[in-house]
Amino acid sequence: MREELSGTINKIKLLIETDVNLGIDEYYLMDNDSRALKVRRLEELRGEVLKCRKCALSKTRNNVVFGEGDPDADLLFVGEAPGRDEDLAGRPFVGRAGKLLTKIINAMGLTREKVFIANILKDRPPANRNPKEEEIDACRGYLLRQIEIIEPKVICALGTFAAQVLLKVDTPISRLRGKFYDYHNIKFMPTYHPAYLLRNSEGKKPVWEDMKKIMNELGLKNNDSSSCS
Ligand code: URA
Repeated sequence: MREELSGTINKIKLLIETDVNLGIDEYYLMDNDSRALKVRRLEELRGEVLKCRKCALSKTRNNVVFGEGDPDADLLFVGEAPGRDEDLAGRPFVGRAGKLLTKIINAMGLTREKVFIANILKDRPPANRNPKEEEIDACRGYLLRQIEIIEPKVICALGTFAAQVLLKVDTPISRLRGKFYDYHNIKFMPTYHPAYLLRNSEGKKPVWEDMKKIMNELGLKNNDSSSCS
């Protein structure tokens, strides 16, 4: 028994030595551990973003809004940038538009904890002005790394800005929404921003149509009596 064990240990040592010689210095365990790895990588990224000083928004922010939810989520929502409420709370979509987004998520049979919610910009533009090109460029890499870590099956872009920045187009959201695009092999659905729905309730029906397509893609049950209105 002792000999068998030491034989096994020697084999493992040899395997590790071979890997080290090949330049492999990290092992990823699968399933439960792949989730743990996502949690760890996302926390490392959060630490980096919290210290970010790449653009002038870092001087006026109260809090960085990194994003929140399940690091292993199938569905990632991407908004524009934190507003006043989000800047104060350090959390995405917690104001009026956020409450409507939560309602939409719940109507899909999900919770905020089961999806991931992020923004293109992690800091609030003062007085909610439109993001500047250099701010988008400074922040873009963080969202890309969030996407790479979370590996969502579907990304839902909320509003003109998120959809146009990620798809690199200037087509209006009214023409972009309602169909899936390919985003680095991930299904990408643009839809109206919840803040737009607060001012234009006729947008709720098309948004619900878009959410039903996402639910279908994710194999979620569609109870047709639900809606986000
Ligand atoms: N609007 C956004 O685009 N993002 C938020 O986090 C809040 C409002």
